[in-house]
Amino acid sequence: MEKDLTVTVQRVLLRFGNDSEALVEMLRELNIELGHLSMETLALVADALKLPRSHVLSVASFYSMLDLEPRGKHVIKLCQDAPCHVAGGQEVWKALEHELGIGFGATTPDGQWTLLTTSCIGACAVGPVMLVDDEIYGNLTPERVRQILAQIADRDRAGGGA
Ligand code: FES
Repeated sequence: MEKDLTVTVQRVLLRFGNDSEALVEMLRELNIELGHLSMETLALVADALKLPRSHVLSVASFYSMLDLEPRGKHVIKLCQDAPCHVAGGQEVWKALEHELGIGFGATTPDGQWTLLTTSCIGACAVGPVMLVDDEIYGNLTPERVRQILAQIADRDRAGGGA
């Protein structure tokens, strides 16, 4: 896990040429990919960019779009790669934001849902696709998104919120 985190941080920083001028954008990308910015993540960013850790923490704390808290109970990851996008991913993206009342990279205030993106998960034939926890849902439409969210919420209630 720690190794995965290091690789993710390096990959995102590289996307911005390891340029500390793009610190906020880097943190935003990491927030979307990871669901939140842990102290460990911030330390990796600071060390890689040769910035004081206190500076990176203060930047991460300043912007409300950046989340220092952990993910929600259910983590949704919508595939954002091109095949899913052209199959209607943008509509699904909007439906998820609308239904949950949050943007990508965020967690609902009740701690139930976290909305993230993912790259291709190899199910392009049934795109748009999302993962909810470890379960794959394909052929998504806004209506199907509403049904899936309602089913999961019902399942939670039936299970006593477990
Ligand atoms: S592009 Fe979305 S699953 Fe492959």
